Amino acid sequence: MLPRKVKLVEVGPRDGLQNEKAFVSTEVKVELVNRLADAGFPNVESASFVSPKWVPQMADGADVMRRIGRRDGTLYSALTPNMKGLEAALDARVGEIVIFGAASEPFSQKNINCSIAESVERFRPVARAAKDAGVRVRGAISCALGCPYQGDVPVASVVSVAQMLDELGCDEIDVADTIGVGTAGRVRAVFDAVSRVIDRSRLSGHFHDTYGQALANILASLEAGITIFHASVAGLGGCPYAKGATGNVATEDVLYLLDGLGIETGVDLAKVVAAGAFISEALGRPNGSRAGKALSTQ
Ligand code: HMG
Ligand code: MG
Repeated sequence: MLPRKVKLVEVGPRDGLQNEKAFVSTEVKVELVNRLADAGFPNVESASFVSPKWVPQMADGADVMRRIGRRDGTLYSALTPNMKGLEAALDARVGEIVIFGAASEPFSQKNINCSIAESVERFRPVARAAKDAGVRVRGAISCALGCPYQGDVPVASVVSVAQMLDELGCDEIDVADTIGVGTAGRVRAVFDAVSRVIDRSRLSGHFHDTYGQALANILASLEAGITIFHASVAGLGGCPYAKGATGNVATEDVLYLLDGLGIETGVDLAKVVAAGAFISEALGRPNGSRAGKALSTQ
């Protein structure tokens, strides 16, 4: 049986924009976050407090957080890889921090410049300080369905990293298909394995759509009892450390699927379509959402 309700996390302003070569103005980022919050998302991933040398596009995270409107009912999240990022995020009144590890050693090295074990030790004080400040903590597992450097990633590695993030006190754990290589059967197997050690209500599916499998993977996850999904308006994105990876699954397409299944999200599809048209125009590129394109020409 499919769930009646799903929590949809909009990650476009962070995962979607982080890979843009030309700097997207703070004003555009702020308007995007505001439009998405206004569409009713319970959670908008809005910024990253990472090294600007590594990801220059996210260098204005503090300004973005200072200038956005704060809608009741929307949690504004940001990535924090270390204590420096955490301190900046707390100053910027972030409602949820995201620590981001990987199920593959080479990806961990490329993305955050340390091993998986070192990353967990680095995240420990970050998670503790966030909790002490009353801020929610989410943990992401990159390369849970495959790695651009290592190829196959054993399910056991995903389970092991999920357990480590759980021990750090993560409220929610993201199973991320960073490069969009996963297929439905494998997704099901990963969620079945991880949910043997962590309650499935705390697991989310974060799917990139490189191979066009993301909607099928979401349906497989729904069937596995997963009720939290990430998506990016207009299908924005890619990953700076995963060459060739395309954006997250487009939010408009996910909403169209969920609406069709009668699954409640509290998100207004028409407003997301308008936000998708806004950011596609601001970036000067075609809208990456099929549903977004179809609905904006009606
Ligand atoms: P490092 O170079 O090993 O760190 O990077 P460091 O401590 O030696 O610092 C180097 C410089 O960065 C120093 O500056 C620090 O002050 C500065 P300098 O002294 O040379 O002038 N620095 C910072 N500045 C601002 N904020 C900070 C910060 N930390 C250090 N927080 C580090 C290690 C983790 C910092 C670096 O590798 C990094 O920032 N990585 C982030 C990479 C990233 O953002 N990747 C994309 C997000 S993950 C993703 O997209 C996957 C996800 O969507 C799920 C999925 O799809 O898989 C979540
Ligand atoms: Mg991602």
